[in-house]
Amino acid sequence: MAPVTLAKLGGSVITDKTKPFSFRAEVVSALGEEIAASHERVVLVHGGGSFGHPVAKEYGLTSGAYSRGGEGVSKTRDAMYALNQLVCRALMGAGVETYPFAPFDLLVSSDGEHARSWLRNLLSSGLSPVTFGDVSSYPRGFRILSGDTIMHELAKVLRPVRCVFALDVDGVYRGREKEKAGNLLRTISASQMSKLKVDLGDDATGGMKLKLQVAGKIASLGTSVSFVSGFRRAEFAKALRGLDFYGTMVAV
Ligand SMILES: Nc1ncnc2c1ncn2[C@@H]1O[C@H](COP(=O)(O)OP(=O)(O)OP(=O)(O)O)[C@@H](O)[C@H]1O
Ligand SMILES: [Mg+2]
Repeated sequence: MAPVTLAKLGGSVITDKTKPFSFRAEVVSALGEEIAASHERVVLVHGGGSFGHPVAKEYGLTSGAYSRGGEGVSKTRDAMYALNQLVCRALMGAGVETYPFAPFDLLVSSDGEHARSWLRNLLSSGLSPVTFGDVSSYPRGFRILSGDTIMHELAKVLRPVRCVFALDVDGVYRGREKEKAGNLLRTISASQMSKLKVDLGDDATGGMKLKLQVAGKIASLGTSVSFVSGFRRAEFAKALRGLDFYGTMVAV
């Protein structure tokens, strides 16, 4: 089986997190064109952005604690399914043959072997499986399964050659004055990742902090992990193909 690449289209890229329910169709189309042109076997995850996070926050749903069911669960899922449809339509329009699926059944309630062969089958048929952060039901209540955590679950199952995180910034910055190019870390080690001071921002699931924890775990599986701007399509394309790109690589 040809190598698999795992990519997360961050909610910060595919939506404007400062404006509720704002989808960036042109950005997703551009990334879709690069995915289609890469001819890589790509499994995609997308985040909640300004669809999932504000609704989850309003109802107190997080990835850290269990909540009771009710309206918040329905509304958060509704927002994520709406976003997933927008993402898949934009990707399809760009030439990516998408196969959307909800993550929970496959990754939490089935064994790894089943998930692996199911996903590999789709990839062999030329389809790109697309999944997303979701609200999942457990015996103790409901919790958000964040897109970043799903990346780790998928990495364990698929053992991809690469994981690419597309963000609304160029990569991981040293400290908080992040917009300055001089502060961009071109490589980051596991110990730097655990010490970095990061802003939690407006994210129901832990923002950059969770992302760095997850990235460390994925890198320790032997997978190369990169952070790249989803607004720079050429750099995203290079990261997807495993070429040198402008952004941050996790040092192994
Ligand atoms: N040290 C840092 N380096 C880079 N970005 C940082 C840093 N600290 C905080 N951030 C913020 O983290 C954000 C990315 O994380 P965030 O969880 O908001 O995005 P995302 O994962 O793409 O969205 P979603 O969770 O909806 O998928 C960036 O917008 C950036 O402002
Ligand atoms: Mg996030």
